[in-house]
Amino acid sequence: MENNLEIKTDDNGAQVSIIIPTYNESENIIKILDSIGKNLPSNMPTEAIVVDDNSPDGTTGLVEDYIKKIKDSVSYSVKIIQRKTKSGLSSAVINGVEKSNGKTVVVMDSDFSHPPNMIPKMVNELTNSEYDIVIASRYLKDGGIEGWTRKRKMISKAGTKIAKSGLKISETDPMSGFFAFKKEIIKGIKFDAIGYKILLEMLVKTKGAKIKEIPYTFVNRQVGSSKLGSSTIVDYLKAVWKLYRYGKAVEQKEHNSSARFVSKAARFYTVGASGFFVNYLISLLFVDVVANLWYVQANIAGITVSIITNFFLNKIWTFEDRDFNAKKTVTQLGKFFGFSSLGGLIQVGMVFALTESYGLDYPIALILGVLVAAFGNFILNKRFTFKEKVWE
Ligand code: GDD
Ligand code: MN
Repeated sequence: MENNLEIKTDDNGAQVSIIIPTYNESENIIKILDSIGKNLPSNMPTEAIVVDDNSPDGTTGLVEDYIKKIKDSVSYSVKIIQRKTKSGLSSAVINGVEKSNGKTVVVMDSDFSHPPNMIPKMVNELTNSEYDIVIASRYLKDGGIEGWTRKRKMISKAGTKIAKSGLKISETDPMSGFFAFKKEIIKGIKFDAIGYKILLEMLVKTKGAKIKEIPYTFVNRQVGSSKLGSSTIVDYLKAVWKLYRYGKAVEQKEHNSSARFVSKAARFYTVGASGFFVNYLISLLFVDVVANLWYVQANIAGITVSIITNFFLNKIWTFEDRDFNAKKTVTQLGKFFGFSSLGGLIQVGMVFALTESYGLDYPIALILGVLVAAFGNFILNKRFTFKEKVWE
């Protein structure tokens, strides 16, 4: 499934939204909602959003009763999202986030494996800080796991290794189900939301996000049973493979666009050099052969003609724009002229400053001036004359 998250404005005043996916958690859900409420500081308006997949054990009904019970609380509210069928932990989290009001989102399990007293710590790490994602980690020095079999520990460790090496993840616990983030960082991201590992997908797709890990001890559930089935490992490998492909596609795209940028800049400079010869030829021709002009006039004619030939060469060759609609082309030519004059001014100004103030030799100052002015022209024409993105 694909999701595109829209950030909404607060409508119930909650700053923090805690997403709790449930499937057959009737023995845990009320206790955990209660415990969360008790662990919240009073100055942190919070909503808990339970995303239940129509659990046959009546989890939804219990939550509905609880909502009535606490409806007078000012700083803590509970919502329930009931989905029709069991559709997986990751997509439950995404559906919960879509319906959330808080700017800060916390994701946690309902079975007390994730201690509610960690919530204020995690939120505090995010508020007024540079961090975008806070992960409660089992694998930091002071973290741990209680009550898991050796086999389950080994599978978890192996999964973590695969993620770290295959997806170049540097965090210690990318498979954690307990994490918090600023909602704005996932704006516009499309999630595959396969299986369990929604945090892993978030880490891959929010490139550049600042991440902080804090240690905690995961305590295996006392009541109810794990919903991790035998298909989980297959789902996990599928998810990692998809994310791996995603990473490669992004790399490829970046590589292609920087290669295109360099190649266009090179063409632009080549055209510029050709303009120099056109300018030179026309100026000579007009002085002697054609019109017997005064050399200043001849030079102006040379400059004008070279700007026009530069324009058409850049339009056709550099920017591959084959649309010769008269009005459009004249507008483009006008802009090109404008930027060329601006480039000329920059060049003269730079040469003047470099020779006068910095004592550079004229030939060197000239080369620098030409290169800088041409680069400026390239960017301006790319962006405004030919309406391309600057870095593509
Ligand atoms: N809505 C919904 N739909 N909820 C689900 C589903 C589902 O398909 N599957 C599981 N849940 C809920 C459970 O009810 C519970 O609240 C939470 O998600 C975690 O499920 P568990 O079945 O208790 O998972 P676990 O304890 O084996 O795995 C935990 O540890 C992993 C780290 O190794 C979870 O925290 C994982 O998220 C975590 O990656
Ligand atoms: Mn569990």
